[in-house]
Amino acid sequence: MEKIVIKGGHRLEGQLPISGAKNAALPLMCAGLLAKDGLTLHNLPHLADIKTLASLLTELGSTISYDEEGWDIGSGQTVTIAASHIASTTAPYDMVRKMRASILVLGPLLAREGEAIVSLPGGCAIGNRPIDLHLKAFEDIGATIELKDGYVRASGKLTGGTVHFPIVSVGATENILMAACLADGITIIENAAKEPEITDLATCLVAMGAKISGIGTSRLEVEGVNELHAAEYTVMPDRIEAGSYTVAAAMTGGELELLGDNLPYVMTGTLEILKQAGLVFTETERGLLTRLGPEKIIGINAVTQPFPGFPTDMQAQLMAMMTLCDGASVITETIFENRFMHVPELCRMGADITVNGSTATIRGIEKLLGAPVMATDLRASMSLVLAGLAAEGVTEVKRIYHLDRGYERLVQKLGSCGAKISREKDNDI
Ligand code: UD1
Repeated sequence: MEKIVIKGGHRLEGQLPISGAKNAALPLMCAGLLAKDGLTLHNLPHLADIKTLASLLTELGSTISYDEEGWDIGSGQTVTIAASHIASTTAPYDMVRKMRASILVLGPLLAREGEAIVSLPGGCAIGNRPIDLHLKAFEDIGATIELKDGYVRASGKLTGGTVHFPIVSVGATENILMAACLADGITIIENAAKEPEITDLATCLVAMGAKISGIGTSRLEVEGVNELHAAEYTVMPDRIEAGSYTVAAAMTGGELELLGDNLPYVMTGTLEILKQAGLVFTETERGLLTRLGPEKIIGINAVTQPFPGFPTDMQAQLMAMMTLCDGASVITETIFENRFMHVPELCRMGADITVNGSTATIRGIEKLLGAPVMATDLRASMSLVLAGLAAEGVTEVKRIYHLDRGYERLVQKLGSCGAKISREKDNDI
């Protein structure tokens, strides 16, 4: 096992290429199952989750070919998923347990083969995370759902229909959107998630021959077609990676140019809160320049919300930043229960945070102090890295497999901008 070792207090400065978005890449790869000929995806990040999903897609019968050429710090990989024949319609427990997003094969398999058997994902570090909304939506468009031995079996010919989501779900919107593309009739999806990753998926599906209208809105209309065809698509930049590095710049009193397309739009909710905290953003030819305007970070009141609100995936990183604010901040988590796992670890670094239900009150302190820390999920781990970059002394972040799931070349990227950060063997675990 390895750990990340950070010697804090070094100002970050320079240019940081933003990788392709993990949360866009995963559903896009699943969409590859919908066409018999290949879907070529550019700008896929090199991440553990991408490899995990690739092995599941291979198990289901797809052929995956990689173009690894020219992998430097800013370049993603090109991957072609060719699913001429589906060999299996089962996503086993071992895969789904490793990565919840595996449930996104359900929609494509069901639509293409008339059957999908997918392990129920169970709980995870950030809460219960059920899939009831996915299943109800499949029933709404004609599928039969059976639960047995920890697996869900969805079957039947999809007819289309109206799906009304009682709450906004990114994964359920993606799953039903993919399935609806090959249904016999028209599907209306109401209260659909509007996250930019959904727009990315819908745009790619259209390039594959799908008929979708209302893209980018909360009402999607899909007219089913007989089959989808080959296409090429470039994955959007990772708005959460970009937001995390923005926080890194502010916490170290630095200045970073984030390189990526369309960042002001995809980062909407994040930028709004960070501006209130005193960050200044300037659009550049290649991306977005960010720095802290005033001497100290200004305290804020933030509530996590679906897009275009402040994203839950930035909550832990924002909290790390607010430990150093002038006065106090309040952050409320409305999307996932149990997503304050970083709080005790930040407090071990000297932070002053009190949690009451889904609300955390953070009183700003003068400085954080380095410490050995560990976290139980991806974004919580990143909040500890950010705290370590600003802290006095040395911080060791353990259990870094979480970070490997979602931050491409974290150590190299931060190191190239002046952070004193390395990956070392962890003899304690
Ligand atoms: C996706 C993202 C994740 C992000 C989340 C919210 C990926 C791979 N993951 O997760 O990083 O934090 O969106 O932006 O893209 N819910 C139900 N029943 C369901 C489905 C969801 O009750 O069937 C609830 C969840 O427990 C949660 C809320 O709906 O409280 C939103 O979850 P959802 O948007 O579905 O998250 P994911 O798609 O799993």
